[in-house]
Amino acid sequence: MNVDLLVVGSGFFGLTIAERVAKELGRKVVVIDRRSHIGGNAYSEAEPETGIEIHKYGAHLFHTSNEVVWDYVRRFTSFTSYEHRVFSNYRGEVFPLPINLGTINQFFRSALSPDEARTQISEQASEFSTSSAANLEEKAISLIGRPLYEAFIRDYTAKQWQTPPDQLPAEVISRLPVRYNYDNRYFNDTYEGLPTDGYTAWLERMADHPNIEIRLDTDFFDSTQPFNKNETVGNVPVVYTGAIDRYFDYSQGELAWRTLDFEQEILPVGDFQGTSVMNYADESVPFTRIHEFRHFHPERNYPTDKTVIMREFSRFASQNDEPYYPVNTASDRQRLIEYRALQDDEKDVFFGGRLGTYKYLDMHMAIGSALSMFQNKLEPFFAV
Ligand code: FDA
Repeated sequence: MNVDLLVVGSGFFGLTIAERVAKELGRKVVVIDRRSHIGGNAYSEAEPETGIEIHKYGAHLFHTSNEVVWDYVRRFTSFTSYEHRVFSNYRGEVFPLPINLGTINQFFRSALSPDEARTQISEQASEFSTSSAANLEEKAISLIGRPLYEAFIRDYTAKQWQTPPDQLPAEVISRLPVRYNYDNRYFNDTYEGLPTDGYTAWLERMADHPNIEIRLDTDFFDSTQPFNKNETVGNVPVVYTGAIDRYFDYSQGELAWRTLDFEQEILPVGDFQGTSVMNYADESVPFTRIHEFRHFHPERNYPTDKTVIMREFSRFASQNDEPYYPVNTASDRQRLIEYRALQDDEKDVFFGGRLGTYKYLDMHMAIGSALSMFQNKLEPFFAV
């Protein structure tokens, strides 16, 4: 086999590894992906009727405070000055998120100062103690008080998990940020923006190297296809970014994931909701949020008489669904420990990425962890 490294999965993790090994080490890399496009969940494409760039697997906003990652990604793309903001529709009224002084004063019809708001929220939050909260509902109330919890968190969380929050474990949330000023920027990171020419152009530039061969529609577990597991493991080093439980044929049981269903629609209006993401806090609305893609790129010349929206629905994933967010129950964590032990016995197979580690990773985290794997494991491996 005339290849130095096989990378399974062409998401940000796999492409970062492929790019580094091809460029820095001059090695031949084959990247396979079972999908018919590169890029994993960050893939985007122009909607054919409107030309508006849509994020096929859910909205992707790039943000990071990691200087190494920021320097690296700008070799392949520039970024726009887009700053993400989210709003929530609660009982037909629109509020800014994350919860901030604007949300609080609008909700309570007040004009509280930062200190007055702090005092009020801490009084409302005193109903439960955070450290002894028995479930998600009690923990959320202990952090932001019952009125804000019932409006913005309770039904939204129930829709996300298809489970009432008083039946969800407290550790599903670690914190619920409340800002005692009018800052409603969604991310706190030093750098934020969207790739100027879109995600796919960025991902294609990463893969564009003579030492990299991409093979799409190729499943690692399909023994009739080249570069499958039986043919490669033990013969060529492998970086595997698919699901860890699938690699071991679910021998320790399935790891649970949540998935999303998307309903895309083209509407004959220039602007549907005036912003990119609107959450729907009420239980009576079946979807969790609506994305309107034109607002991610206000600098582009998109049509003024059409827009593309996408409603998002959340549910537990079955084996044939796209795995999006790890559920991470106590039994999942136990299974993961068992899979990690098996992984240690796999010779020259390196597990990484979101699916390979059963961890939710933002893009900058996937890229950062691939850069670390390159430096700490692959460079020494190929140096021998
Ligand atoms: P990724 O899932 O992208 O790639 C894995 C690839 O492996 C896939 O292409 C898959 O087809 C392939 N594969 C799996 N099994 C295979 C097999 N058996 N054979 C061959 N190929 C196989 N991040 C962020 O920074 N800002 C954001 O706004 C968002 N938003 C967001 C929304 C939603 C709904 C999700 C699910 C995720 C985000 N993310 C995000 C996270 C972002 O998508 C994530 O960081 C990257 O997908 C991680 O890249 P990976 O390469 O690890 O996985």
